[in-house]
Amino acid sequence: MQSISLYTVYFENEIGNYSFPNSPENLYEPLKYFIEIGGKRIRPLLTLIASEMFGLPKENALQASLAIELFHNFSLIHDDIMDKAPLRRGKQTVHLKWNDDIAILSGDVLLIKAYQALAKQDARHIPALLDLFNRTAVEVCEGQQMDMDFETCDQVTIEAYIEMIRLKTSVLLGCALAFGAIVSDAPKKDRELIYAFGQNLGIAFQIQDDILDLYGDPEKFGKQIGGDIIANKKTLLLLKALELAQINPESKVEEMLLIQDNKVKIDTAKSMFDSLGVLSFAREQMSIYQDKALSALNDISVSTENKKTLIALSEYLFLREV
Ligand code: IPE
Ligand code: IPE
Ligand code: MG
Ligand code: MG
Ligand code: MG
Repeated sequence: MQSISLYTVYFENEIGNYSFPNSPENLYEPLKYFIEIGGKRIRPLLTLIASEMFGLPKENALQASLAIELFHNFSLIHDDIMDKAPLRRGKQTVHLKWNDDIAILSGDVLLIKAYQALAKQDARHIPALLDLFNRTAVEVCEGQQMDMDFETCDQVTIEAYIEMIRLKTSVLLGCALAFGAIVSDAPKKDRELIYAFGQNLGIAFQIQDDILDLYGDPEKFGKQIGGDIIANKKTLLLLKALELAQINPESKVEEMLLIQDNKVKIDTAKSMFDSLGVLSFAREQMSIYQDKALSALNDISVSTENKKTLIALSEYLFLREV
């Protein structure tokens, strides 16, 4: 089994060599800043590890993995404008450090850079890569719009929430893994299974992100704690609390949503969630999706030994505090 750090070191080195032009400074400085502040690089690692799992050296999947990470960073720069987020990876967000216009345009360039990287993969694989990438990019936008619409909708079901996070988050993890399968010419069945692994892993990952958003350690998390509560995001925690509040009329979850003072709102939400037990519900749901993910991985037709790095990465993911 190859260690995760081997892939991390390799990818960090490669993305570190990725260069942007110097001018216009207001277009490229924000991108240098954003890429340099790092992140966990989970998605490109998924591409590289999947490709080696199916027998292709990681170097041959590099451009596909770069495309995925560039796309992810584009989506975060725009997401931070939409979510009015002040902090990302422990640093000021691009739209605050510069401004919204700069964040929109530099995000756009990053999306195009993602396509330029993808175009460097072997021409034989381009149609399949593009087909999946395009579909994924559209789905991420659909999920992001649903996320925004849900802020002001009081009829969101847990089913609709799962579909929203599948679109905004999971499809990109599925795409990252399927890229590894495509470039290594893995059989169609395995490509579908690794995509299913990514989708379920991604759902668990976003549920955990929702949990960390409220319960994370502010010193480690790198994002504003309670941002989802401030924005009335329909996270799994909030949806379950709203559901339970219907049978516990004394818990005034809907009133909490109207609180103007952010700190009071976050503290109130936390104590309501604690008394309703929604944290353990969310954790259970997370582990259901983790299990679904592992079951899809289990069915892939490569040796157990070759699956170990992906298993280790998914275990590491759910120990994260960032
Ligand atoms: C943040 O993704 C966006 C979500 C889908 C929750 P990550 O948590 O992977 O962000 P970085 O790249 O490590 O900062
Ligand atoms: C973001 O979901 C998903 C995408 C960027 C497409 P969140 O809004 O929960 O991600 P964070 O918490 O800001 O990283
Ligand atoms: Mg956000
Ligand atoms: Mg968001
Ligand atoms: Mg979040």
